[in-house]
Amino acid sequence: MGFMEYNPHQQRLVELQQLLRSHNYRYYILNNPVISDNEYDNYYRELLELEEKYPALKTPDSPTQRAGTPPSEAFTRLEHPAPILSLDNAFSADELRAWQERISRLDESAAGAEFMMEPKLDGLTVVLHYENGLFTRGATRGNSVIGEEITENLRTIRTLPLRIPPDPESTVPPQNLVVRGEAFIRISDFDKLNKYLEEAGERTYVNPRNTAAGSLRQLDSSLTAKRPLTLLVYQIVTSSDTLPRTQKETLSYLEQLGFPTPDFDFCPDLDAVINSLEDWEDRRRKLDYEIDGVVIKINDLDLADNLGVVGKAPRGAIAFKFPAQVVNTTLEDIRVNVGRTGVLTPYAVLEPVEIGGVTVKQATLHNFDFISDKDIRKGDRVMVKRAGEVIPYIMGPVKDIRTGAERVYSPPEICPVCQEPVEHIEGEVAWYCVNSSCEAQLIRNIEHFVSRTAMDIVGLGIKIVEQLANEGLITSVGDLYSLQKADLLKLEGFAEKKADNLLEAITQSKNQLLDRLITALGIRGVGEVVSGILARNYRNLDALNQASLEELENIPGIGPNIAQAIIDWFNRPTNQQVLRKLKVNGVWPSVETKTKADLEDMKLTGLVFVLTGKLKSYTRGEIKEIIQASGGKVTGSVSANTDYILVGDDPGSKHDKAQELGIKIIIEDEFRAMIKDFNN
Ligand code: IVH
Repeated sequence: MGFMEYNPHQQRLVELQQLLRSHNYRYYILNNPVISDNEYDNYYRELLELEEKYPALKTPDSPTQRAGTPPSEAFTRLEHPAPILSLDNAFSADELRAWQERISRLDESAAGAEFMMEPKLDGLTVVLHYENGLFTRGATRGNSVIGEEITENLRTIRTLPLRIPPDPESTVPPQNLVVRGEAFIRISDFDKLNKYLEEAGERTYVNPRNTAAGSLRQLDSSLTAKRPLTLLVYQIVTSSDTLPRTQKETLSYLEQLGFPTPDFDFCPDLDAVINSLEDWEDRRRKLDYEIDGVVIKINDLDLADNLGVVGKAPRGAIAFKFPAQVVNTTLEDIRVNVGRTGVLTPYAVLEPVEIGGVTVKQATLHNFDFISDKDIRKGDRVMVKRAGEVIPYIMGPVKDIRTGAERVYSPPEICPVCQEPVEHIEGEVAWYCVNSSCEAQLIRNIEHFVSRTAMDIVGLGIKIVEQLANEGLITSVGDLYSLQKADLLKLEGFAEKKADNLLEAITQSKNQLLDRLITALGIRGVGEVVSGILARNYRNLDALNQASLEELENIPGIGPNIAQAIIDWFNRPTNQQVLRKLKVNGVWPSVETKTKADLEDMKLTGLVFVLTGKLKSYTRGEIKEIIQASGGKVTGSVSANTDYILVGDDPGSKHDKAQELGIKIIIEDEFRAMIKDFNN
């Protein structure tokens, strides 16, 4: 078959094979990916689907046929017990009134209807199946009749109840229950995730919705587990029990069963709905999640059912969409921020523009690849979107209206703060300023060092840090401990008392535990959790200083990137100097004194565990180590002294014995929730 004979689907298939081949090459050979893993997965899945339709084109050289590339089995399909419908939209109060008139003609009781208003969550629909109270399966919406089964991914969502109700005495769960909800990522969690990725030199995500969608459709659920997904449930799809007859009762019933449910407004009539719309635009700004409108539902579900369905949308509910918060403006300049770990992050200076009641002058550009991938040029008209409280972001340039005066941008070769050359690490998207005495990093390093979760030095705010740095009194965090009272008294705004207090706070911080000191060092990717693991494994900074890459990589909870960042940090002569200064000044805790993580993470103190079956994310050795490190004990056989039996795949007879003895049986996710995820 020649190329000319291909239909558009077949052409797309061939195009995707070529596209994925070239992205594979960039990823595996050049170590320089230009698309995110999510985008890759989406292309990959699209190709799988097309190849299923046209098996003759599934040639042995197709990227889907390569051993070693991502797993090629796509998701299995799961049929929904009833169609998972969508909604019609309204954009104004008039359209809402027209809707009520329309439905009142079909059923006159709609004229006197009560309504419920719920936030229209901007996430991904999920359908959850429960049998006798146990979460058994879950799926995406798919084509509304059949979805993709993503049970294992859904299990990783901590707010998803694995068993309902929470208090078995209160309600008997229906034998079969299927509910619908929306999975999404909170804005604050999204910001935290991006900050973490940025500091680790990894590609940041563009917005919470795409991140949520991409995370839920991972073929490897351990990747989903690392994303801060959450959930709200708002509808019963089917149930073996009799159902509540209003939407209001449905939400309280769902809540009673242990589901997280959305906020709502109950409105006695449509005027109340319309009055409330403005409030919602305001409320929207205060929410920690993105909504793109409100859903207005007839409260009486019998009436709603009677009204039936047009196409794929029920007549008994409608989505009121907020005006789009996307505007065009001119990108006046591209500037660069230098972060604490030296990462250079480009941002756009915009001709000020109002979006959703807020004037926007700047927007993040993520990283330099983003600028070149989107072909963003200085002087371009760009589309800017602001969603909730997330920093506004640039969707892309409007290329058709270019005048020719726009200038292509290239990343800086020197640090905009200290003017030293910048470096690019193979395989990472970020560019770094590696001069650790760069002022941008010095001030931020100290700010981080003294912060509440690190050495917690109260009274040493950014202003004072800047003063100290400008006066040349500190060139690294190591100098904090040799500050003299006379030095401080020279600074503006310092009198006896203030100087004494600050010196006292600095001295006090010498007693901080090892994990806090490790956090304080500001090693890329090493936050509180990883610091706790390192403190438990190494017990002092001398030992950590000697650690090899291989040794670090073998510690559960420490990935290769973090291990490498630790090695790099200790390899830098300036950092060795910091360590010497700390040691000389007696800032050198060791773990005879217990670490904060030890004290807090002793979650399993005194508890006796028995293991059976194969676990997904831990080897036997790792899980034992984690239980012991958290104060628990692992024994080989089930007895009346056993507190928990942790059950994996293909459990043995211990499981039956535990059931007989009435011992609490838990699965891996429940265990993870007990100890809080070590990988996060
Ligand atoms: S009700 C038949 N309620 O918005 C009932 N949907 O275009 C239809 N959505 O695909 C859904 N928040 O995924 C409903 N509180 C809410 C919602 C909500 C978000 C999504 C839903 C649907 C889309 C409608």
